[in-house]
Amino acid sequence: MASIDRRDFMARGSMALAGSAVPGRRLRLAQVGTGGRGMDWARYILANFGDIVEMVGFCDINPKRVEVAREMLGSAAPGFVDFERMVEEAKPEMVLITTPDSSHSEYIVRAMQLGRDVLTEKPLCTDEQQCRTVLAAEKRYGRKLMVAFNARHFAEAKKVKELLQQKAIGEVLSIDYQEYLDTSHGASYFRRWHRIKEMSGTLLVSKSCHHFDQVNWWLDSVPVEVVAYGDLRFYGKNNPFRHTHCRGCPYQKRCAFYQDITANASAMKLYVGCESEDGYLIDGCVWRQDVNIYDTWSVMVRYANGARLTYTANTFLPYEGQEIVINGTRGRIDYNNYDYPGGRDRQLRLTRTFSRQPETINPEERAGGHGGADPSVRELIFRGEGAADPLQLRAGSLAGAYSSLVGIAGYRSIERGGERIRISDLASL
Ligand SMILES: NC(=O)c1ccc[n+]([C@@H]2O[C@H](COP(=O)([O-])OP(=O)(O)OC[C@H]3O[C@@H](n4cnc5c(N)ncnc54)[C@H](O)[C@@H]3O)[C@@H](O)[C@H]2O)c1
Repeated sequence: MASIDRRDFMARGSMALAGSAVPGRRLRLAQVGTGGRGMDWARYILANFGDIVEMVGFCDINPKRVEVAREMLGSAAPGFVDFERMVEEAKPEMVLITTPDSSHSEYIVRAMQLGRDVLTEKPLCTDEQQCRTVLAAEKRYGRKLMVAFNARHFAEAKKVKELLQQKAIGEVLSIDYQEYLDTSHGASYFRRWHRIKEMSGTLLVSKSCHHFDQVNWWLDSVPVEVVAYGDLRFYGKNNPFRHTHCRGCPYQKRCAFYQDITANASAMKLYVGCESEDGYLIDGCVWRQDVNIYDTWSVMVRYANGARLTYTANTFLPYEGQEIVINGTRGRIDYNNYDYPGGRDRQLRLTRTFSRQPETINPEERAGGHGGADPSVRELIFRGEGAADPLQLRAGSLAGAYSSLVGIAGYRSIERGGERIRISDLASL
């Protein structure tokens, strides 16, 4: 079966960047969302793609933050609080979306309506209605839409794809995927907007869409049915005391999650210094009563090609990591990575059936954010025009939709006491 990404890509013709078609001309790129991830993108683009990309505008709902961001970036491109005004005045050819998850679909649709191509951070959408709206807009306006799935770009993830393409373990029958988030990274989602289901689509969408996308891509198939269970057993209501945020909290000495944000100069500037405008607390209390997402969840997915995914994530663990097992008719792949306080430990093993001798394959990790995955995805997007893509790393709207829909089906299943949810009942792709 052809890859969903490849079909997506072919159907829309080349993903060539609008500005790079003419030698010497730079792509006009504007960005909405100048928080942490937005700054990371902008910094990287300004430092590495200045010859082919011109940042022409920055927009954020917080007027102070957009100015602080421009100053921190040292960019002369104008700042805006109104997205449409930015598009009108800065005249970008493409818009980069790095706002909270539930706002992606609105900006995708508006940018396309205004005749712009779109590059969005994951997830594509946080509910089924948004998914349908984005897909309809793409069809109607015919603009290019790319989703920056950096998790495909981990060295091990690419190697797994290559091994599966080579049929090193025959046909894949099942995948077991365990995600471990620790009391720092995991807790960070309960401090901010992710803790609100309507903003993040729960972590089944906001976080797990990375993993569902990897599995969809590895399997080269599409998800059909989802069953899930999830609970809030650790954060939020599960503590006898709480405050609004860590600064000024009366429980600072008792709380293991106390975080001194004042020690982080850049967070003080980008977030705390801009709090007056929107009340966004970057050091929010993880025990707030309004947390309405799950901190532990398990999902089963059945695929069109008959394969199954069994997935579990927990957000309060002593260390970070993943344990992924891919079971095939001719062998098994084990991919483990752990981020202990003392250092990282990664291992990718291929064991062929009847050999009993695992082959250890540890691909070279490149430098840069998220284990080199960030530079890899950004180079593919901005410098990979027309380049061969044998690993099918490019991700468009269908990949975005399917990965979000697994998470959405997951939280719908949890809401309905473990009911089986068909993806085709949520959106027709
Ligand atoms: N791929 C990855 O590895 C990765 C890592 C981190 C974040 N992300 C994604 O990047 C996005 C941003 O995450 P973040 O951690 O930077 O969040 P953040 O809260 O730090 O920043 C979001 C910014 O968007 C602004 N904003 C909020 N609502 C807005 C709206 N309606 N219109 C315009 N601006 C608005 C906020 O003021 C803030 O400046 C999210 O979608 C997140 O899932 C991806």
